[in-house]
Amino acid sequence: MSGDPGDPGWPDLEARRAGFERMYRTQPERFGGPASRFCEWALPVLSELVPSGRLLELGSGPGRDARRLARAGYEVRATDYARAAIERAQADPATPPNLRFEAVDAVAAVRGEDDSSLDVVYAHALYMMLPDSELSAVLRETHRALRPGGLHLFGVRSVTDPQASLGEEVAPDVRRRTDPPAGAVIAAPYRYFRPETIDRLTAQGFERARTDFRSDLHFWFIADRRP
Ligand SMILES: C[S@@+](CC[C@H](N)C(=O)[O-])C[C@H]1O[C@@H](n2cnc3c(N)ncnc32)[C@H](O)[C@@H]1O
Repeated sequence: MSGDPGDPGWPDLEARRAGFERMYRTQPERFGGPASRFCEWALPVLSELVPSGRLLELGSGPGRDARRLARAGYEVRATDYARAAIERAQADPATPPNLRFEAVDAVAAVRGEDDSSLDVVYAHALYMMLPDSELSAVLRETHRALRPGGLHLFGVRSVTDPQASLGEEVAPDVRRRTDPPAGAVIAAPYRYFRPETIDRLTAQGFERARTDFRSDLHFWFIADRRP
C-alpha cells in the first residue's frame, strides 16, 4: 500500500478506493437519504452568486446532494471513485436528464473538464481523504476548469472535532487511527482543517465569497470564487 512518494503514510488511490467500494457494498444505505446540511447551506449561496450552469461534484457518493442540486436546475456531473456508489445512483429510475453519474477519481474528474467550462465545483466531505498531491491537483485543475466568477464550494472537517486528537499524527493535522471507528473504511489517514489551512487553499488563485463554521458539526463550509 505505497502511495505517491510525496505522500508518505497514505495508501495509494487504488487501496483507498477499494476501502470505499467495500463500505458501499456492505453498507448500501451509507450517504443515502436527504441532502446534506452542507448542501442546504450551499443552495442559497449558489442561487445568489451562480444561479444556473454546469456543476461538477467530486466525491458525490450515491448522490444525495447531486439530486438536490439537479432539482435546483444545475446541469450536474456527479463523480465518485467508488463504483458501488455510482451504480446505486445510476439504478434510480427517477434520475432527471440534467444529472449524470460517473465513476472516476476526483483529480481525473476535474482534469477531464475544458478550461473555463464549469460554473461550480462542489465537494462535500472529500478533501479530508486526499493526500497532499491529490488535493493540490484538485485545486489547480478546479481553478483552470472554472470560468471567471465560478464557485468552488467545499465542506471540510475542523480540527476542533474531538476525533482530531485520536490516533497518530502522520503530518500536521493529519491523523491515522489504528482503531478506526465502526463503519470506517480503512485505517487511512484523515486530514483536519483549521482557518489557516483553508486560507492556503483559497490562496491558490481564488477569493473568499462565504465562510461558515458549524460548531455543532465541526465542519467548515466554504465558497471561493475564481476572480
Ligand atoms: C464522506 S463521503 C461523502 C459523500 C457525499 N459527498 C455526501 O456528502 O453524501 C466521501 C466520498 O468521497 C469518495 N472519495 C474519497 N476519495 C475520493 C477520490 N480520491 N476521488 C473520488 N471520490 C473519492 C468516497 O468514495 C465517498 O463516496
